[in-house]
Amino acid sequence: EKGGYDHFMLKEIYEQPRAILDTYRGRLLADQGLIRMAGIDEHLEKFLNANRIIIVACGTSWHAGLVAEYIFEDLARIPVEVEYASEFRYRNPVITDKDVLIAISQSGETADTLAAIKMAKEKGAFVFGVCNVVGSSIARETHAGAYTHAGPEIGVASTKAFTTQITVLTLMALKLAKEKGVFSQSKFHEFLTELETIPAKVEKALESNALIEVIANVYKDSTNCLYLGRGYNFPVALEGALKLKEISYIHAEGYPAAEMKHGPIALIDEQMPVFVIATKKGHYEKVVSNIQEIKSRKGKIIAIVTEGDTQVRELADHVVEVPETLESLTPLLTTIPLQLLSYHIAVMRGCNVDQPRNLAKSVTVE
Ligand code: M6R
Repeated sequence: EKGGYDHFMLKEIYEQPRAILDTYRGRLLADQGLIRMAGIDEHLEKFLNANRIIIVACGTSWHAGLVAEYIFEDLARIPVEVEYASEFRYRNPVITDKDVLIAISQSGETADTLAAIKMAKEKGAFVFGVCNVVGSSIARETHAGAYTHAGPEIGVASTKAFTTQITVLTLMALKLAKEKGVFSQSKFHEFLTELETIPAKVEKALESNALIEVIANVYKDSTNCLYLGRGYNFPVALEGALKLKEISYIHAEGYPAAEMKHGPIALIDEQMPVFVIATKKGHYEKVVSNIQEIKSRKGKIIAIVTEGDTQVRELADHVVEVPETLESLTPLLTTIPLQLLSYHIAVMRGCNVDQPRNLAKSVTVE
C-alpha cells in the first residue's frame, strides 16, 4: 500500500506532480483561455462584491492560507486576512455579510476550523471550503467549495495536501483576477501555461533527493534550525520549520528573512543551520544580503536557489536548485526540497515518520 516506498510521507511527497495535475485537471483550460470552478462560478457575485477575504485554517493549511494571501492580493487585488481558526473563533471578530471566509482543511474535520465556519455563517458571511476529504464535515458545512483532489494523505505530516491547496487557491485567485478585469488576457494566459508546467518542474525538484540526503546527514544532529524566506516564500519557511519540528523533533523556527535583525540573529553561531529560500525574483538581492549577515556570524547556510544560480552558491555551504517559474508559483517548488530534508533527517534520527509522537492526523478536539 506504500507503493514500494518506506513511508507514506515519502510516497506522498513523490505523488505531488500527479496530485497537482489532478487538482487543476478539468479546471484549467488553457486552450480555451479559462478556468472553470463551479463553486466560484455559481457564487461569483459574492467574491466580486466582497470587502475582503478571511482565510481560516490550522497548521500546514494555515501556511497555505498565508501563501494565498500573497496570491489573492498580488494577482486579484482583493484584501485578505489569514487567521488561525483557534484565535479567530474566540476573539469576537468583526464579520459582516460582505465578507467571504475561506476555510482550508485537508481532513475537513479540524474542530477549530469547523467552529470558525459555523460562527462566520451565523454572522452572515459567505463560507467557501478548500478540503481534500470528500464529504467531510467542513465540506458539508460550507456554502460552496473546491476539493483539492490530492488523493488520501496518510502521513501525519502534510505534504501533497499543502501543494494542492496552493494550486486550488492559485486557480481561484487567477479566475477572480480575470473576472475583475485586473488581468489582461495575455497575462492570464501566461499564468495558465506556466501552471501547466508545474508538475514537470516538481518532478525536476524531486531529482535533488540524493543531494538532500547528503545534506540531511550533515545536519541531522542539530538541536536548532532556522528557516528564512521573504514574500511568497516566507510561508514556505514557516512550513519547512513545522515539517522538521513535527517529524524529527528538532526545534526549528521560520522567519521572514528581514526580521532576523530584530532579534533572532543573536542566535547565529557555527552550530546554527539556516535554511534560506533564495530563488531569483522575489527580493533576491535582499535575501543575498541576509545570507551575508548570517555568514559573517558563522552560521551554516543551506540555500534553495533557482537553477543556474551562481551568486548564492558562492556564499552558501550547500545549495539545492529548483526550476525557474513565475514568482507567485515558486512555493510549489521551493517546498519540495524542505519536505525531503525533514523526511530524511527524521528517518536518520530513527523517528516514526508517518506517526510522530503526540500528533494525530486530524485534530478533532479543541
Ligand atoms: O486537516 P487540516 O488541514 O485541517 O489539518 C490542520 C493541521 O492539523 C495540519 O496541517 C497539521 O499541522 C499537519 N500535521 C502538519 O503537517
